[in-house]
Amino acid sequence: MDGFVHAQYGKVVRVAPNKYSIDDPAACKLIYGFGAPLKKSTWYSMASDPKIGPNHNLFSVQDREMHAAMRKRQAGFYSMTSIKTYEPFVDECVSVFLEQFDRISKSGEIIDLQIWLQSYALDAISQMTYGVRHGLVDNGARDPDKHMQWLWDLQYFMTLGGLTFPWGLPLLLLRYGSIFSGAMKFVDRLDKQAEEKFDNGTVKETALDDGRPVTFFEKVLKARNANAEDFEKYHIGSSTNANMLAGSDTTSIALSSIMYHSLKSTHVWKRLREELNEAISNGSVTQPITFEQAQNLHYFQCVLKEALRVHPSIGLPMWRLIPQGGMEIGGTFFPESTWIGINPWVAHHNKEVFGNDIDVFNPDRWDANTTPKPKLDQMAAYSLAFGAGSRTCIGKNVSILEMNKLIPELVRRYDFDLLQPDKEPEIENNWFVKQKHINVRVQPAQ
Ligand code: HEM
Repeated sequence: MDGFVHAQYGKVVRVAPNKYSIDDPAACKLIYGFGAPLKKSTWYSMASDPKIGPNHNLFSVQDREMHAAMRKRQAGFYSMTSIKTYEPFVDECVSVFLEQFDRISKSGEIIDLQIWLQSYALDAISQMTYGVRHGLVDNGARDPDKHMQWLWDLQYFMTLGGLTFPWGLPLLLLRYGSIFSGAMKFVDRLDKQAEEKFDNGTVKETALDDGRPVTFFEKVLKARNANAEDFEKYHIGSSTNANMLAGSDTTSIALSSIMYHSLKSTHVWKRLREELNEAISNGSVTQPITFEQAQNLHYFQCVLKEALRVHPSIGLPMWRLIPQGGMEIGGTFFPESTWIGINPWVAHHNKEVFGNDIDVFNPDRWDANTTPKPKLDQMAAYSLAFGAGSRTCIGKNVSILEMNKLIPELVRRYDFDLLQPDKEPEIENNWFVKQKHINVRVQPAQ
């Protein structure tokens, strides 16, 4: 793939009037680094509630000071201490998933692994956030209320709308109004559910003391009660529904990438199994595997990094706005108000950083025993799967938890036959680059 059009045109490519895609590791810090003067462009306004504007949520907020304050208020919900408290919720989701796969592996039926992984990601984030699963996995990966479709439609509308915000909105609403209103109903319902629970006291802060796992929502409630002045009521809904909007498709894409690439390269699957079996036999992995144990599986962690490199969940530039007075970046002067951004797909296919084998799924490139540290540091600095700098993904550890809990259990228990190993899955890019139809036959592990 070779950096796409950048291989032909260089580090700076004009992709639309006033919009430039950049492929330059040295520029990455200037654009996204802590303290960089570029704020998010109005592309992100589409991710907010129009009645409130961009300050509606952490993802959409553009003002840098406002963002810093909001992020500080929410950081605790996603800290490593909090992540540990979410682990029992994920255990429950994994357990339901395995029950289903035990049944499937005996029946010999062919399944679409992508749909199952997406169902798991949506159930897991919903269980951590609200304490209840959507029940997609329980339901055999069926989605009668079309939650997955609403999320995808909303993403489509946001992506297009963001590029032409605000003038293109009326045209888009004319053309895609029904998609938008359907998807907004889903988001409104999530917001209302959260606010109603707050209003009628269904969820109480005292739950924090009764020794059971604490949901994300309960943590939000505590923050709101402690600081009603800064923590607006709409932040209750906007911070909880951000998990659903930003954290389900993204995680399912990463899970699908891990599974597809490890199954396609059968030696990778074999090594994953060997590493896990060894850890089980020497007692360093229990059942279910803990987050900490999974993180000590050295080869598995390399696979995870490589899956996020070769197929990052986000596939358009993360647009930033050139500030007043313009700015020189990598030898090019950009006038004020220009949009520039790096697309993680472009960054991850940069040969100077990742080597000539960019199209090869090669987990060993991340092996600290064989790859020199300066190279590892260079690759890590241009790994943008979770973004970079002050706007980096706040939910990264939540999704890493989901991956670390599920994948080793699949490796432990099942063999998978990819039905079309030589055919890459179709993909659709709505900013999230989602795979379609990863058909497999599952069998108990031999
Ligand atoms: C594999 C899974 C995930 C990937 C690849 C991913 C990717 C990203 C990226 C690239 C950004 C930065 C966007 C930008 O700068 O334009 C981001 C931001 C964000 N993500 Fe994630 N994400 C994932 C999972 C999650 C989860 C599980 C949650 C919530 C539980 C979440 C919540 C957010 C939020 C709230 C932001 C905005 C942070 C801010 O601006 O301060 N993400 N994510």
